[in-house]
Amino acid sequence: MQTPISGFSKRSKKEKIAWLIKNHFHNTEAAQAIVEQYWHPKEQLQQLHDDFIENTISNYYLPLGVAPNFNINGKLYTIPMAIEESSVVAAAAKAAKYWGDRGGFKTEILGQEKIGQIHFMYQGDASKLASFIPKIKKQLLEDVADITKNMEQRGGGIRSIELRDKTDLIADYFQLHLCFLTADSMGANFINSCLEAIAKRLQHYIQAAEVFTEKEKDIEIVMSILSNFVPNCIAKASVSCPIEDLEQEEGLSKQAFAEKFVRAVKIAQKEPFRAVTHNKGIMNGVDAVVIATGNDFRAVEAGVHAYAARNGQYASLSHAYLADDSLHFELELPLAIGTVGGLTNLHPLVKWSLELLGNPSATELMQIITVAGLAQNFAAIRSLVTSGIQKGHMKMHLLNILNQLNATEAQKEAAITFFKTNPVSHSAVANFLEKN
Ligand code: MEV
Repeated sequence: MQTPISGFSKRSKKEKIAWLIKNHFHNTEAAQAIVEQYWHPKEQLQQLHDDFIENTISNYYLPLGVAPNFNINGKLYTIPMAIEESSVVAAAAKAAKYWGDRGGFKTEILGQEKIGQIHFMYQGDASKLASFIPKIKKQLLEDVADITKNMEQRGGGIRSIELRDKTDLIADYFQLHLCFLTADSMGANFINSCLEAIAKRLQHYIQAAEVFTEKEKDIEIVMSILSNFVPNCIAKASVSCPIEDLEQEEGLSKQAFAEKFVRAVKIAQKEPFRAVTHNKGIMNGVDAVVIATGNDFRAVEAGVHAYAARNGQYASLSHAYLADDSLHFELELPLAIGTVGGLTNLHPLVKWSLELLGNPSATELMQIITVAGLAQNFAAIRSLVTSGIQKGHMKMHLLNILNQLNATEAQKEAAITFFKTNPVSHSAVANFLEKN
């Protein structure tokens, strides 16, 4: 049995790898070679990646693709997407072309507010706390002026501080609930720094106030942290076009396609099993752009799914309806993202991706990401209600299967031609390779 290792993080990269290989791998040479072949030959660039996290041993590549021709509010974008799923970029590009020919995507920002909370326990008279907090609000803001000064110069800062009595959930549990604007940054560090400083001052003021008894003064700050639930930090994207201008789908009239499309979205609004998959399709587009632009996809994922369940039942994030003989399709997403700070200043490909997008502001990027989600959702539902998803998926997956089966370049070329008109499956490709 393996024994625990102490001081692992203090060892050199070479020592860490040697320990891993010795303890976890049978074919030690192959395992070592795989880790090393992903090291970057430029030492400085490798060091940059080493420093992102602890115990870096190699780099984990994802393909960076681009989807051109996105017409958003009349401006053309080429959207960078970092993702491993074979059909996603192709679907995005196809949806961009589809809607580019039909007036493009329209977007708007419905809110930019982020949230942070100080969770604390207070045993005593809640009404005393309720009248005390408004009196110290101004002072609390002044106490963190050092932290907020720069952000305020950029148009951000703390917008509100509110006491929330949560004793109906847990005895003695209260919150200071704060709203922030964080300009072009995602703002996590800014928010958390403000919260931790305010929490200390809150404790201080309560302890110093005569109005509280000794027991009441003994408040416990449980934690101070931003919330990844950002229901007031929303971008909206929409497309619409007259039904008669929709593309002719095989075996369906344009009217029948539009009705079936709306029905498919309605199912995702009412039925959680479908809603989760439907929203996963949206996140295929969203995460790919969030990652390419160096943003925190875990934060976005958590916030988006919480938003999808905000009315008590998990539901579709997108909506579709027919009105005025047109198909309307729209998506609202809560997105706490940034275009300055964090990885955006550090990772060369992130900087490159942002430049590709014309160095957008955070709100512009929120809109681009929402469009990527809507485009992806459109492409998925369009396939689902017409040919089925597998035709396109397997076509895009063909190269993966060929690589898995070690096809030669000549075989790949022949297979691509053959499978243009034949259904792709693992066994069909294996059969084809046996014969060609
Ligand atoms: C696959 O990654 C995404 C889909 O399942 C989305 C959907 O079903 O809407 C195709």
